[in-house]
Amino acid sequence: MKMFARRTLLRTLTRQAACVGLGAALLSLPTLAAGAAEVNIYSSRHYDADKLLYAAFEKETGIQINVIEGKDDELIERLKAEGRNSPADVLLAVDAGRLWRAQDAGVLQPVKSAVLEKAVPAEYREKDGYWFGLSARARVIIYNKDSVKPSDLSTYEDLADPKWKGRLLVRSSTNVYNQSLTGSILAAHGAEKTEAWAKGMAANFARKPQGGDIDQIKAVAAGEGDVAISNTYYFARMLNSSNPTEKAAAQKVGLFFPNQKDRGAHVNISGAGIAKYAPNRDTAVKFLEFLATPEAQKIFAEANYEFPVVAGIPSHPVVAAWGDFKRDSLNASVYGQNNAEALKIMDRAGWK
Ligand SMILES: [Fe+2]
Repeated sequence: MKMFARRTLLRTLTRQAACVGLGAALLSLPTLAAGAAEVNIYSSRHYDADKLLYAAFEKETGIQINVIEGKDDELIERLKAEGRNSPADVLLAVDAGRLWRAQDAGVLQPVKSAVLEKAVPAEYREKDGYWFGLSARARVIIYNKDSVKPSDLSTYEDLADPKWKGRLLVRSSTNVYNQSLTGSILAAHGAEKTEAWAKGMAANFARKPQGGDIDQIKAVAAGEGDVAISNTYYFARMLNSSNPTEKAAAQKVGLFFPNQKDRGAHVNISGAGIAKYAPNRDTAVKFLEFLATPEAQKIFAEANYEFPVVAGIPSHPVVAAWGDFKRDSLNASVYGQNNAEALKIMDRAGWK
């Protein structure tokens, strides 16, 4: 795995000098030299928006951010192996299922922050402060506008109906997004009905699960199937793409928010927790609080097409154009708690 992407002290100071005058930059030197003004992040997010978030935080606070990127499970294993010697302050991850896994592995510590508790709705954070959702995404149905009418669609449950045989596209069950979706079905219906649902889904697959969400959307546009499941930001990214082929594919398909007449569409979060042995705990909390400011929430919304979790922050216009929708209000922790059982069910159902 990569070493921390260290920025030079000189670069930080030069930028501060430009912002606030050389005197202030020199005053901050002892703090930086003491190693107090930095935050070390282990991140499994894979979005360019994060670079903007880090730069905005560094500019505003003069606190240096060092990042190690990796896969969620690798980072959790690394935190476990490093134990008290870990330099990590913050774990940034996509999907509540993963954050819950980190909590369960004992690599996070609880945080009491009035700022975060006020800014982040209760269903998007862990009740004791082990992690906080900082942006949200819905898992929705994408349909081919030529072969499917919105009135043909209703719920996730309905996608298991034989009428969709050979028409459904969805990525593998090894993907945590699908594990969390199945975890939400488990919470709504219990194990027996969830297994019947997963079997129905697998029986309807247009092809063996492969690729990511964007590949499912492209396959619907290409006529390989009629309906797919995808996170919202991937579709928005395609709609706003500078690549004409990708944009044309996105324009062939429509987005449908499922379960609007009952519990609402499945919404998951991307978020962060403080590492158990964070050497820079206070600055790390400051960083999390920064991510819940209107400035950072706008970056999540504009650069990655995610839904801000903080009320009153507008979504990207491409996202806002879909209109309001009803969201499943299940606490995101439940996806984590149900993860192992969800995965077993999907396995047994043949959703590989
Ligand atoms: Fe993603």
